[in-house]
Amino acid sequence: MKYFFLAYAIVAALVIGLLPMRGEKSPETPLRLFPDMDDQDRLDAQAPSEFFADGAGGRHPVDGTRPLGFQADGETELGGIPSYEFGGGTGYYETGGIEGYYSNGMPEELGLTEDNVVTFLRRGREVYNINCMPCHGESGDGLGVTANYGVPGIANLTLESFQQATYPDGRMFDVISNGKNNMGAYKHNIPLRDRWAVVAYVRALQLARKAPLSESSIQEAFEAQMEEQKQAAQ
Ligand code: HEC
Repeated sequence: MKYFFLAYAIVAALVIGLLPMRGEKSPETPLRLFPDMDDQDRLDAQAPSEFFADGAGGRHPVDGTRPLGFQADGETELGGIPSYEFGGGTGYYETGGIEGYYSNGMPEELGLTEDNVVTFLRRGREVYNINCMPCHGESGDGLGVTANYGVPGIANLTLESFQQATYPDGRMFDVISNGKNNMGAYKHNIPLRDRWAVVAYVRALQLARKAPLSESSIQEAFEAQMEEQKQAAQ
């Protein structure tokens, strides 16, 4: 016990002796017992680097990188609507409803024409596959990968009850925007225009369900939907 107190006193003296060093300014690298990733290898802006073959520390963005708010080539054909518009308005385009009632059809703000409707649906497929497929499945049948991990009650979008006649485009747009029960809201993640593109693509998936079972049926329904949108745009 005697030695314990002695050891304790020595440790205490050391700690107290070292503490006053805190707060003093020194050009030396500080002694850190727990570095907590405070110091990491990095390159200062504009500094040269031996690591990269071209000797430059600064890296160019990866090909295809697009700053938020800029349109990629080819997307400008979509009626000149800014791609990153998230809403806030009260019209059909922003809410899916007209005077409190859900309505059908693509809003004219999309500026859909015969020429850009293909790009529009392709965009819908891309956005659907990124945001919706994990739950609703590639074909919209509600059997996405998350169903295997216990997300309950994922809607099968190919059912009759979700067809245009009973479940208007505007309602689907609203669910995408604001979510429902276990499904989250996408109004902060998916721009307005893309949400409508997803609605159009889900309609294509529904048509695909009705088509005869073949490998190309989704493609065919996709084309049929494209035709339909083209007609509507005229
Ligand atoms: C995290 C999983 C998940 C994701 C991702 C998801 N959903 Fe859902 N979705 C659900 C669930 C669960 C329901 C059933 C909600 C309910 O009625 O309880 C649902 C319901 C729906 C419905 C029917 C709502 C109603 O009125 O009954 C539509 C339409 C829909 N989702 C479309 C989409 C679209 C389009 C996307 C992509 C933008 C998407 N969902 C992304 C889980 C998801």
